[in-house]
Amino acid sequence: MLRIGILTSGGDCQALNAAMRGVVKGIYSRCDDVEIYGFQEGYKGLIYSNFKMLTSRDFSGILTVGGTILGTSRQPFKLMRVPDENGLDKVEAMKHTYHKLNLNCLVILGGNGTHKTANLLREEGLNVITLPKTIDNDLWGTDMTFGFQSAVDIATDTIDKIHTTATSHNRVFIIEIMGHKVGWVALHAAIAGGADIVLLPEIPYDMDVIVDAINRRKESGKRFTIIAAAEGAVSKKDAKLSKKELKEKQAKRKYPSVAYELAEKVQKRTDQEVRIAVPGHTQRGGSPCPYDRVLSTRLGSAAAEAILDGNYGNMVAIKNDKIVLVPLAEVAGKLKYVDPHSDIIKEAKLTGISFGDK
Ligand code: F6P
Repeated sequence: MLRIGILTSGGDCQALNAAMRGVVKGIYSRCDDVEIYGFQEGYKGLIYSNFKMLTSRDFSGILTVGGTILGTSRQPFKLMRVPDENGLDKVEAMKHTYHKLNLNCLVILGGNGTHKTANLLREEGLNVITLPKTIDNDLWGTDMTFGFQSAVDIATDTIDKIHTTATSHNRVFIIEIMGHKVGWVALHAAIAGGADIVLLPEIPYDMDVIVDAINRRKESGKRFTIIAAAEGAVSKKDAKLSKKELKEKQAKRKYPSVAYELAEKVQKRTDQEVRIAVPGHTQRGGSPCPYDRVLSTRLGSAAAEAILDGNYGNMVAIKNDKIVLVPLAEVAGKLKYVDPHSDIIKEAKLTGISFGDK
């Protein structure tokens, strides 16, 4: 008898269900004697022993369904060692649930924070296999996370749609794209959507350069400008602040988010009308794109194989189109940033996209 616990943790994204379906189908193709415990709302379900017994039927018909059939929640890693309001030790509680149910392993689908906790559980002696989910594509150790391509499709579609209005009205449009720490979605959507300026957390911007790019477009007869700004886009000046100082400054700012701040600055310094579009959580919503369905199915079925072979303590990743196992100890706590000196940035710059840096 194989007893598998499964949970989805952190922000949702497309293809979580597709990935779980891949795991379960892969397991059942080699083993019938299985019990699946689906923990509700991420680590919360494991902490408070809140689970549903699932069968292969529960994972049927969900390949194209967005969200997660298990529900999810954010349980910050830094609070895992802090007892809950009733004094419960969360780590001990998770271990207790695991042992009480006599699980052989836990399959955990999540992003960066989730991986830190998954690694902690591994260190505490639990058998853990993880799958890389996040629209941000910022998990170290994998070329790609599922959710990313679907989010890029949606962000690109927003840019495409805004393009027509921007052109009709000769406006500057600022489209705010998800990504507080890394700018992968903004970068890809900006290239795919033909944005004129893209602002990433990894490449601090200079307002003079942005204004200059807008004015140069106008002088050349192009009276509209599309700016794709990642949520975490930061000015050169602010980039010099410490993490704490920047957080304090942002907490005090009068704007709800970066797009509003940029809009005010652009409005003051150009004579063009400025508008904002914030696609927000639409970027995590709806059905996964075909690429994500394929990727998550491959990762899920490879996870099944790792479980059946007893290869625990790993994240199932994709590298150079090969599915590989990466030790959790290597993954936990590292982010995969956009490299400002990488080929994709150079190529984007050659096509005339400004990154607001020079
Ligand atoms: O990590 C995924 C992500 O969508 C980020 O891109 C975004 O900044 C954040 O989550 C939003 O989080 P929440 O859903 O908690 O508002």
